[in-house]
Amino acid sequence: MSCSRLLIPLYLLSISLLFQLGLAIDLDSYSIYCSQSSFLAGGPYNKNLNNLVRYLDSKTPLTGFGSGSQGLGQNRTYGLALCRGDINSRDCKACVDQASNEIQKVCKLKKEAIAWYDVCMLKYSNLSFLGKIDNKNWYFEESTNFWSNPGYFNKEVIQILSTLQKEAYVSPKMYAAGALEIGNSTTLYGLVQCTRDLSSANCNICLEEAIGAVTPYFHGSVGGKIWGGSCNVRYEIYPFFNA
Ligand SMILES: *[C@@H]1O[C@H](CO)[C@@H](O)[C@H](O)[C@H]1NC(C)=O
Ligand SMILES: *[C@@H]1O[C@H](CO)[C@@H](O)[C@H](O)[C@H]1NC(C)=O
Ligand SMILES: *[C@@H]1O[C@H](CO)[C@@H](O)[C@H](O)[C@H]1NC(C)=O
Repeated sequence: MSCSRLLIPLYLLSISLLFQLGLAIDLDSYSIYCSQSSFLAGGPYNKNLNNLVRYLDSKTPLTGFGSGSQGLGQNRTYGLALCRGDINSRDCKACVDQASNEIQKVCKLKKEAIAWYDVCMLKYSNLSFLGKIDNKNWYFEESTNFWSNPGYFNKEVIQILSTLQKEAYVSPKMYAAGALEIGNSTTLYGLVQCTRDLSSANCNICLEEAIGAVTPYFHGSVGGKIWGGSCNVRYEIYPFFNA
């Protein structure tokens, strides 16, 4: 798809952009967390989880976010799915489909799991977590390339992410993405997002915590992903989201 786009004459580009021909989404790389605790195959939790995942899979693409629970008492399961704020519903569906298949393969019979993809995440647990900040489950990924002056670079990363944080936590989608020109004719791209079960105040707290991990984890690395159970942060020196 991205190849054929190169053949479009320049004057048509602005028209094609109206159709939101996005960057191709990557569903091959992901990270998955599974809990230790298991449930019985074919038991009530299993049935509730299947129903929940099916529900999230159908609901999430409509708005980019879905959450809910299934079952009662000990057999109850809670879940959410979130697509990145710039993703259309077709790509959102493709990602949540993939995530729900993969998570149930990798975390077979586990009560709690989280799957993080570039453009979506899926989480479920037997614990009632909706509305609460998950500060236990984090996934970090950094570029192996480093900026020669890490102190300067880090300051710029924090600056763009903090600006986006202020925008995101008061916006209905709890999402913000943007770019910042930094020295050396480089553009820094950043993106922050919260799961929409959080209150605005909790979104702000979650992003604060995630952005606080940039300096200790990614000192000078030219790209980083901080994916949590309740909020996500990413920065790169190349464009990775649809404006
Ligand atoms: C969970 O499901 C089992 C099997 O249906 C049932 O016996 C048990 O009472 C349920 N537990 C709760 C707390 O609802
Ligand atoms: C969730 O599962 C864990 C591990 O099996 C169990 O210890 C805990 O009591 C469960 N919590 C609820 C609310 O069902
Ligand atoms: C200039 O940019 C490159 C990446 O494009 C970076 O690796 C290098 O460290 C930068 N130099 C300075 C002095 O910031």
